[in-house]
Amino acid sequence: MNFDDALTWDGELTVTRYDPQTGAFFVVRLHSTQLGPAAGGTRAVQYASLADAIEDAGNLAAAMTLKMAVSDLPMGGGKSVIALPAPRHEIDDTTWARILTLHAENIDKLEGNYFTGPDVNTNSADMDALNDATSFVFGRSTERGGAGSSAHNTALGVFESLKATAAHHQMGNLYGLTILVQGLGAVGGVVADLASKAGARLIVCDTDAQRLAWAEELGHTVIGVDQALCTPCDIFAPCAMGSVIDRRVAAELPTRAVVGAANNILSDGHASTILRERGILYAPDFVTNAGGALHLVGREVLGWDKDTVEQRTRGIGDTLAEVYAIAQTNATTTDQAALTLANRRLGDARSNRSTDR
Ligand code: NAI
Ligand code: PHE
Repeated sequence: MNFDDALTWDGELTVTRYDPQTGAFFVVRLHSTQLGPAAGGTRAVQYASLADAIEDAGNLAAAMTLKMAVSDLPMGGGKSVIALPAPRHEIDDTTWARILTLHAENIDKLEGNYFTGPDVNTNSADMDALNDATSFVFGRSTERGGAGSSAHNTALGVFESLKATAAHHQMGNLYGLTILVQGLGAVGGVVADLASKAGARLIVCDTDAQRLAWAEELGHTVIGVDQALCTPCDIFAPCAMGSVIDRRVAAELPTRAVVGAANNILSDGHASTILRERGILYAPDFVTNAGGALHLVGREVLGWDKDTVEQRTRGIGDTLAEVYAIAQTNATTTDQAALTLANRRLGDARSNRSTDR
């Protein structure tokens, strides 16, 4: 156990479990249940150490609290991390089935204080499997009565964020802008598609050769993954993994704005200050990538239809404009401004509860 992290983390609960048979290590962290049950996806990846897995789950759960608050959703923040013994593609079906069964047990023991959903390396089929043993699951397949993949809606929210950022930063609309999309997966692929249809010029990279072949066919410029942080562009869109921008990267990134889907893009509290000093507009990720949460919670908790989900997701552009306005008024980073907005909503919920008593 990473005791430094346990002593400084401001969340509510950490649950861990190790399975010697598969070598999987499970972490479920509930950051806040202030606005409702904690919710956040299950991420299944390899980590350098168990301490890293615990820390990642904590950072991701905290981001979910902010995402729910800023999106006015009646849920708290949580996250599950499954630290795998090998890369996901090397894990056989029997082992994976056991891992999911154990994880469903973990979730069920939390008795509805935590709802999971898809995240990196888990999809709707995996949510169906979890649902065999627990009902606290979002994003099952539509055949099983769930909302299905959240990726398309997440991409729509990122697209609205690209437009809002370009408008605020005197870049006009997306037509003719150069957008660098890092990661052409379920979300990044759709972001690239929407931006391209809006007239942007796309530079893309991915570790997966198949996805690059698809991008080349569409006429996008393909670069190596090691070129992502040094290729000039108007907007850098990280849609692969988090922690891509630390203070060193922030000091050199050749772009005018950062707008992406990845959770926790900034790995370092000082990076947002450096971006601001360099005139690079950063769109806080827990605002831009909330389309997935709006889809899952909207459809499965609030009973929204598709049109309502789309309308609320398109509203992410307005939320972002509000964040940029707060940052300007308060002369702070956009990250700090988004935190102010989320905390305002968390504070409103707190005071509503105390006046109800
Ligand atoms: P995905 O797994 O479908 O796509 C990720 C893509 O990134 C893959 O194509 C992969 O090959 C590529 N990749 C991995 N390492 C890379 C590297 N170093 N450089 C370039 N490409 C690399 O995942 P998905 O669903 O598209 O999610 C992308 C990001 O957005 C993740 O960080 C996820 O946490 C975040 N996110 C996703 C949501 C969703 O609804 N799917 C919601 C909110 C956030
Ligand atoms: N994992 C996605 C996210 O980070 C989607 C998700 C949202 C999963 C809410 C569960 C609950 O937003």
